[in-house]
Amino acid sequence: MSSNQHNQEKLSSARFSESTDAFVEEFTASIQFDHRMYKQDIQGSIAHAKMLTKVGILDNKELQDIITGLTQIESDIEAGKITWSIKQEDIHMNIESLLTGLIGFTGKKLHTGRSRNDQVATDIRLYLRDEIDAILPELVRLQKGMIELAEREAATIMPGFTHLQTAQPVTFGHHILAWFEMIKRDMERLQDCRKRVNTMPLGSAALAGTTYPIDRAYTAELLGFDRISENSLDGVSDRDFAIEFTAFAATFLMHLSRFSEELVLWSSAQFQFIDLPDRFCTGSSIMPQKKNPDVPELVRGKTGRVYGHLMSLLTLMKSQPLAYNKDNQEDKEPLFDAVDTVRGSLRAFADMIPAIIVNRDVTYAAAKRGFSTATDLADYLVGKGLAFRDSHEVVGLAVAHGIKSGEDLSEMSLETLQSFCDKITDDVFEVLTLEGSVAARDHLGGTAPNQVRAAVVRAKDYIKTL
Ligand code: ARG
Repeated sequence: MSSNQHNQEKLSSARFSESTDAFVEEFTASIQFDHRMYKQDIQGSIAHAKMLTKVGILDNKELQDIITGLTQIESDIEAGKITWSIKQEDIHMNIESLLTGLIGFTGKKLHTGRSRNDQVATDIRLYLRDEIDAILPELVRLQKGMIELAEREAATIMPGFTHLQTAQPVTFGHHILAWFEMIKRDMERLQDCRKRVNTMPLGSAALAGTTYPIDRAYTAELLGFDRISENSLDGVSDRDFAIEFTAFAATFLMHLSRFSEELVLWSSAQFQFIDLPDRFCTGSSIMPQKKNPDVPELVRGKTGRVYGHLMSLLTLMKSQPLAYNKDNQEDKEPLFDAVDTVRGSLRAFADMIPAIIVNRDVTYAAAKRGFSTATDLADYLVGKGLAFRDSHEVVGLAVAHGIKSGEDLSEMSLETLQSFCDKITDDVFEVLTLEGSVAARDHLGGTAPNQVRAAVVRAKDYIKTL
């Protein structure tokens, strides 16, 4: 039989006296998008058939025919030889119909003791597990890129901001390691999510379990599931795992959007803190001088669709009665797009981060503007016996003077500084330099270059444990 003959006859339609309206058929089908899970559907079916054989429902010859047929179908799909059939509604029925076309009667036995309800729940979990296993090493690659950049720029000074106003000098490496911490938490969230994804619903059948003497532990072992769902009604209707993944995705993209925003700002002509390599940028069709940071801009933009997917899935599940409802077919497109968006954005960032070029002179000069060492002067005066509030006042006067005269605090003469407070002596200049300012924040979590290097060592050790 040719691969496409399965288009002709709809499976399981004996109950119906008229055929489904053509529009309704198209409207209710999911093959247009769920064919993406063909590998997992076949993998699940082979494991199910092996289990049926183990418990004596299929014989070895039947099992061999099923495995040969499904393997053939898999390679036909991969060779582009299959045209999916709307009539067969979804990936599960398409494959079953192709199988029956290939091996005949035995193909019809495959669905014994299962339902599409537990089949689809199993397929999505297998699919998502595969995707998570592809995403995790990419997250590690991104983290390694961040560590590399942080190590390279451990002593590079830049202005640290609050309210996007110059606050205190920080080291560039310290700033990058803040990003690293966010990604580390995202990775932990994803690892944790994987535990619940890796639960097997197969055996729940339509909703109540099955009358056949199935061996769920055996199927779970074959499919590499760590756990088996404990309740059949929950097994077929739980989509928390997809919500959890999408919540991870939304949080991760939110983080990438923050980095993106900074990269866009920093690479602008106004900041010039960094250069993004040309391969991550595009030109303008009209303005020849332009080099647009398209990759971070696009990732920042893509964050919105992932938030949307999270909201879609939460709303999809809201108020759904037990057990399976057709609503659940709507889980796939948001989930698939969340996966694609995470993978694309992650790949772009993992490639881009270690390739960032930092303009150290520019970041240094920027840190000198805006009185970024004002807090250091205040702390210095506290060391000389002033109460912090009083020292804050003194420094305020010095800054006001600097705004008028155009001098940074470190550029004022000792006499000028002493006119604000006579406790100031010439040791003040050590604390007013940018280097002195960052070096003084020398504790766990602080911005001092040696703390950044220590954090890099810890980060590398953590990476080794993954
Ligand atoms: N295509 C369906 C879905 O994605 C498969 C399960 C269909 N089950 C049913 N009882 N109609 O949810």
